Amino acid sequence: MLQPRDRLIVALDVSSVEAAEAMVGRLGDTVSFYKIGYQLGFAGGIGFSQKLIDAGKQVFVDLKLHDIGNTVAQGVKSVARLGATFLTVHAYPQTMKAAVEARENGLRILAVTVLTSSDDADLAAAGYAFPVAELVARRAAQARDLGVDGLVCSPEEAASLRRLVGPDMALVTPGIRPPGSVKDEQKRIATPTAAILAGADYLVVGRPIVAAADPKAAAAAIIEEIGTAAKQSN
Ligand code: C5P
Repeated sequence: MLQPRDRLIVALDVSSVEAAEAMVGRLGDTVSFYKIGYQLGFAGGIGFSQKLIDAGKQVFVDLKLHDIGNTVAQGVKSVARLGATFLTVHAYPQTMKAAVEARENGLRILAVTVLTSSDDADLAAAGYAFPVAELVARRAAQARDLGVDGLVCSPEEAASLRRLVGPDMALVTPGIRPPGSVKDEQKRIATPTAAILAGADYLVVGRPIVAAADPKAAAAAIIEEIGTAAKQSN
């Protein structure tokens, strides 16, 4: 059973290691899991991940790998050596297969099915024969069959993906907004409660925490909401 605190992943979307260190310091013991993406990752964030891991935090490396199999495999091994918990790859069969075969040291691979910024017209323009919903389902099934550990999905997709992939894959949902908070540019949002009830295992939350006047209180309120929703869903 996951503890509510370990189901919240804070997106450290800041542009320097100094800013990240300050935020992690403010959040203290309240937060146990951080996501590092392009913005911080390419500004020293991978080295900083090592510090977080050494300090007992879990790290989600969100660099969405996609390349020839050998390159993906070597990248996965490097991330595994860091001691990261999650790493994203794009949900292309060759990429997922290479990542799953190369993972070690407890690293779990998450697949990104279709970026939520794409709609049906974007997929057609990129040469795909499927609308978004069908491509998401097709890639999720491929991920499951290849032994991928989890999927990144919108809270809206979580319930149908849970039915499709079964209980074992981790569903990780961004697009979370606590009741009454601003949407930013997120289009498909859900409250922490709705995401947990839809079957999400982990919630990724950025601005509602890192841009809050009191980030620690914002994180604590979300963890409390996760705990209440988890009890309801049992
Ligand atoms: O600030 P906010 O809570 O919107 O941040 C959400 C985080 O999740 C960001 O790091 C963003 O890149 C990521 N993400 C997302 N939507 C996806 C995949 C990842 O918002 N479909």
